[in-house]
Amino acid sequence: MRRIILVFPFLLLVVISLNSCEKSSGTAFEHATMRPWFDKNCKSCHGSGGGNSGAWSYNPDNYETSIKKHISHLYQDVYVNKSMPPAGLTQAELDQFKTWYDAGYPAK
Ligand code: HEC
Repeated sequence: MRRIILVFPFLLLVVISLNSCEKSSGTAFEHATMRPWFDKNCKSCHGSGGGNSGAWSYNPDNYETSIKKHISHLYQDVYVNKSMPPAGLTQAELDQFKTWYDAGYPAK
């Protein structure tokens, strides 16, 4: 009984610290060309508070969940179907996207 009383707060502490770790473990998206590219072309609609963040949420604070996890979808919409952004991109912007994608869509 005594042992349970000692172990329980310890486990609680482990759970709490694991949780807070998870929240701060996202890699920031800081690519010199593509961070401004996404900010310019996608953020107004898909950033936090943007009207269409439900369809895809652009969050440069978490590269893994926002970019990496959705990369095949992003590639389809931006480069294959050219459906995003709705206003379209210049050839130079499409090339920038493709170069970054082919390089393994790095975060930095
Ligand atoms: C002017 C507003 C606007 C901008 C700018 C915009 N989007 Fe969208 N996006 C939408 C809307 C509206 C939808 C939901 C309707 C739809 O699926 O067509 C959407 C849906 C999406 C989806 C998920 C839906 C799907 O099935 O394809 C992705 C992924 C996406 N956008 C990526 C992007 C990317 C990447 C950019 C920047 C290059 C971008 N969007 C820029 C308005 C926008």
